[in-house]
This record gives sequence, C-alpha cells and structure tokens, in this order.
Amino acid sequence: MSTVKFMSGERVPLEMHKVRMVQRVNLLPVEERLSAMKEAGFNTFLLKNREVFLDMLTDSGVNAMSENQMAAMLQADDSYAGSETFYRLESALSDMFGMKHFLPTHQGRACENIIAQTMVTPGSSVLMNYHFTTTQAHITLNGGKIEEIVIDEGIKITSTNPFKGNMDLDKLRGSIARLGKDKIAFVRIEAGTNLIGGQPVSMENMKAVSQICRAEGIPLVYDASLLADNLYFIKTREAEYKDTCPGDITREMASLVDVLYFSARKLGASRGGGILVNDDSIFLKMRELIPLYEGFLTYGGMSVREMEALAVGLRETLDMGVISQTPIFVEAMCNELIAKGIPVVTPPGGLGAHVDAMAFCDHIPQEQYPAGALAAALYIASGARGMERGTLSESRKPDGTDTLASMELVRLAFPKRVFTLSQVKYTADRLGWLWENRKLIGGLRFVEEPRVLRFFFGRLEAIGNWPNELAEQFRKDFGDSL
Ligand SMILES: Cc1ncc(COP(=O)(O)O)c(C=O)c1O
Repeated sequence: MSTVKFMSGERVPLEMHKVRMVQRVNLLPVEERLSAMKEAGFNTFLLKNREVFLDMLTDSGVNAMSENQMAAMLQADDSYAGSETFYRLESALSDMFGMKHFLPTHQGRACENIIAQTMVTPGSSVLMNYHFTTTQAHITLNGGKIEEIVIDEGIKITSTNPFKGNMDLDKLRGSIARLGKDKIAFVRIEAGTNLIGGQPVSMENMKAVSQICRAEGIPLVYDASLLADNLYFIKTREAEYKDTCPGDITREMASLVDVLYFSARKLGASRGGGILVNDDSIFLKMRELIPLYEGFLTYGGMSVREMEALAVGLRETLDMGVISQTPIFVEAMCNELIAKGIPVVTPPGGLGAHVDAMAFCDHIPQEQYPAGALAAALYIASGARGMERGTLSESRKPDGTDTLASMELVRLAFPKRVFTLSQVKYTADRLGWLWENRKLIGGLRFVEEPRVLRFFFGRLEAIGNWPNELAEQFRKDFGDSL
C-alpha cells in the first residue's frame, strides 16, 4: 500500500497489488437485509455469508493470499509425522523470531489453552495490557484471574497518544508488589490490542516491561496475532525505529519475551497457530499437550497446505508494502467518518475502524447493548457486517448482572488486501446516513444467552419496532437504490 498526492493536493491510499482472483458478493435490498438480521437474532455472527455484502466482521482467516502463498500450497508434503512442510515452517519461524522451540496448533485460542494449562494455577493472576475474549476464557477456566494494566489513555476513545496499547509501568510494579511475584502466572503483552481499537504497543514500552519481568523472574508472554499492524506502527510512529527494517524490529521484540504465540488466521494470512518458547522445561510441559488437543507435533491440527502458505505469509509480513494496507485503509475510513462528525477511536489503529457506539447511540443504555444494536443497524443500512466489541462480548458477573465494557465499539475490520477504496467509501457513506438517523436505533435484549463466549451464538431481539422503522426510512431516503 502507498499513499499518493493527487493534483488537488488530496492524499489518497493507492493499492500496491492487483486482483487476479475474485469472489462475487451480493448486496440484498434493505427489506431482505432486515429479515436476515431478524433471522440472525440481531447477532452479526449468525448471518450467512451469502447475506453479507462486505464482510468486515474480522480479518481472521479471511486475509487475501498472495500468488506466492498459493503456489507454495501446491508443494505441501502431506504426512502425519515428520513432513518437510513442518521443517520449512519451523525454519521460517526461527528466521523471523529467533526463538528456540516451535509448537504448532490449530489456531490462536488453542495456543491460549496450552499456555493457560501449563502456566496458570488456581488463584494466580495474569497481568496484561488488555484481555482478548478467548484469552480471558482460558485463564479463568484454569482458575486464574486477569488484571488489565493498560495506560489510562488506552481506554479513552480519542487521544493523540500513538501507542495506546502500552502497559502502565507504575500499575505493573504496583500489581506485582500487591499480589507478590509468586502469585503471578505471567505477564502478557498483546500486540495491536484487539478489543480497544487495534492500538499498538511501542518497543520502548516492551523493553521496559521485559526489564521489570526479568528482574522479578516473571515470565513474559507475547500475543503476536496482530504483530503485522504493530510492526507498521513501530516503524512509522516510533522515531528510533524509522530506519530499522521490520525483520530486525521483530527479532528485537522476540528477544524481550519468554513465550510468543500467534493466530495464523491473522499473522501470516493463513489458518493455524503456533507457540514459540525458549525455556526447555516450559517447552516440554507444553509439548505433552499438543498431541492431546491439536495433533501430532509436526502439524498440530493445521493442514500442511496452510502451513506452507503460512511460511510464505510470515516472510511477507516483513514487507511494508504488504502490512501497510490495513492501517492505511483504517485511517482513510476514520478520516471519512470524522469528517461526517461520527465518533471513532483515535488515533486510527490497526485491524479495523472502530466506531464509538456509546456516543453514536447515547440514548441506548449499556445494558441494552448499544454496540450490538449499532452493528445490527449498520447491516440493515448497508449489508456490511461489523462486530460488536462491547458489553455483549463480556460475560455476566456472578450475581447475574452485565459486566459493562469500558468501551462500546463496533469494529469494521479490514482483512488485508480484500477491499477496495470505493467499498471503504460506500461503508462510510451508509454510516453517515445512520449517524443522521441515529435516534431511530433502539436497544437489544437476549432471548437465548450461552454461558461462555455468549457473543458468538447468543440470539437477541429488538426492544421496540426500531429495525422496521429504520428500514422504512432507508427506503424513503434512498428510493430504489440498494
Ligand atoms: C489478539 C488475539 N489473540 C488471540 C486470538 C485468537 O485467535 P484465533 O481466532 O485464531 O483462535 C485473536 C483472534 O482474533 C486475537 O485477535
């Protein structure tokens, strides 16, 4: 990706790739979008892909692959044990991160299961900049607790801080002193913090956290699923690294941590996951669990074709032309939205544009899930599917009341190299219409609520008749346009 200047002076994102394979997408009329949303229980996870025009739910497993990745898939060595494919992937990972051992898994949360089973003991705590849904679930399933120690600005919607994912070092020291180092299973840094707007962590912060952990003897775990965006931001926002190549930045980061894991559905534009670890005894404990939960040690639940694609995709992650598209599109979308007065998380981060549903729908109480309602309304208005990242994505407290999220966000994800600039502009336009008609949006309530990770399958209903009124208004304003 690049940004070029037009004659008018406007700076415009310019794709540095061409499309050589396409998938047709459908834009249903608004009445059919309304029915589909009702059928899906007002949960965008439950829409069928054929009902979705632009799938901005996530980048997970849906990034575009390069021709070199596709070509590599054809040379996969398909064997249960000892496949050459595994050794090629292991070597790509070793070149990239310089860590000693690699354990393959079927996806990111599988790494979290293995790490939590190996390192979390009942009553222990895990300190982290911010949690991810599945990370928290695995830690609590193993009897641990999480403590979030992101800087205060991390959970403010608007800011000029370029690294809102940074850990607050005073909070880190304070938590260690209060809990005692023996009660801390590990400290976890998440690159490109998913739930708070894809905000990066600086190298300076990672170095300081690593120094504290090493002095206390507490293991440091790095969730590198969103490393690609984070690398881009270190290179473009951290002055000291502007002339350092992404490969050197990556190895320096890896040298600061004891365990590194990733979802290959995100990192490496493939599907799978992996854990890298230096310590032999931790490695041996984790290794026992791989055949039990994942598969033999040389595939870990991944298809060999995906492993080949991953080995190439990881190398491509070190190319600024490849990893810049998401951040540049996120920024372009945020600028369009800001120009319309729509509240978004700033500075624009990675992963996707994040709309502040608490301000957008300030008439909807948090217990009626404003971000879930806005995601449903956006689908009705545009056919674009975003993801709720707010109270719906939390679990209930033991007394049955909702845990109110610190931010109510609708995330419009930009899988790498999938969308075009006109699709970005279309979505911004429909969001602009929704902003002008925001008072038409109402709340949601559960009709079916799973106990664990309820946002995946939970079904809800609208409080009142608002979805019908919204669709009617759309028809009035847009006539026969889709
Ligand atoms: C930061 C982070 N960690 C872990 C995961 C879990 O990965 P997976 O979806 O492959 O299980 C994700 C997925 O979105 C993520 O964003």
